[in-house]
Amino acid sequence: MQTDLRGRDLIGDLDFSKEEVEMVLDVAFDLKRKRALGEPHPYLRDKALAMLFFFSSTRTRGSFEAGMAQLGGHAAFIESRTTQIAHGDTEKEMGEIFGRYFDGIAIRHVEWGIGNRYLNFVAQASRVPILNMQCEIYHPFQILADLMTIIEKKGRDLRRMKMVVSWAYAASYLKPISVPQSLILQMPRFGLDVVLAHPPEFKLMPDIMDQAKEQARKYKTGFEVVEDMEAAFKEADIIYAKSWGPLLTSNDPQEGKRIQDQYEDWITDERKMALAKDDAIYMHPLPADRNIEVTDGVIDGPHSVVFDEAENRLHAQKAVMALTMR
Ligand code: CP
Repeated sequence: MQTDLRGRDLIGDLDFSKEEVEMVLDVAFDLKRKRALGEPHPYLRDKALAMLFFFSSTRTRGSFEAGMAQLGGHAAFIESRTTQIAHGDTEKEMGEIFGRYFDGIAIRHVEWGIGNRYLNFVAQASRVPILNMQCEIYHPFQILADLMTIIEKKGRDLRRMKMVVSWAYAASYLKPISVPQSLILQMPRFGLDVVLAHPPEFKLMPDIMDQAKEQARKYKTGFEVVEDMEAAFKEADIIYAKSWGPLLTSNDPQEGKRIQDQYEDWITDERKMALAKDDAIYMHPLPADRNIEVTDGVIDGPHSVVFDEAENRLHAQKAVMALTMR
């Protein structure tokens, strides 16, 4: 088993093999235990991470920054608008120059058709790992934290468990499609039967769908697409219901909102949760549109694991940083 991840990028969910993800999870659980015990774990002493943000964040920024401090290093928060990127610094400059200052470069860039390409161009010019804090295609660190949370709640043997990845209505903005895409890529490798539910206008990228189906075939798990939220919820073990924009149908915010507003009944409420198994868990990466995307009763209720899920961002990210940046 290849366990040396030094120098590796994590941009797409499948950049690490299943065995490498298992290694990340083992390290993440160990770091979580060490933090609970107050055991110092300065694996990245004197190392520095650049965190370059083109889009807002609460959890990602907080957990990468705290994580680097707990590993004995430093994280520099850099908002793109405060840099010289608008005045000509290209991906090559960012990769070359930050690659000489820092030991890792983490980037969040979710602009449709731009973000993922940006990360890959920086990676080409960088001598240090590029870590994807979310682009328009993938959100790999969210999914590592999700996987960790599912294992904590449901155990390591996830075969024959039904995970629903469902679209939900939101009124705030057209959210990226990266979370559902990353979920359907990673979860089949760990034995979960995935049911993807969304209205017809909310399809995911065809290439990602093909790769997800290929993972499901390879790992002999179920993969089904339905257009009925309630049918999907029946007898589910895991409900992961969140909003995303109809970006494959229209990238125009006004048209997207018009399409989205047809489906206000796609809310996760107590009645729909009751269709799932009694011990089903409710997951959401946050932020959620409360009482629009999910009721307070569900997100604050007994099935919800959203705060453990948010906490696990810290442990999963520390594991990847410790393994790739040492
Ligand atoms: N889940 C997540 O990525 O949260 P932030 O957008 O707040 O970082």
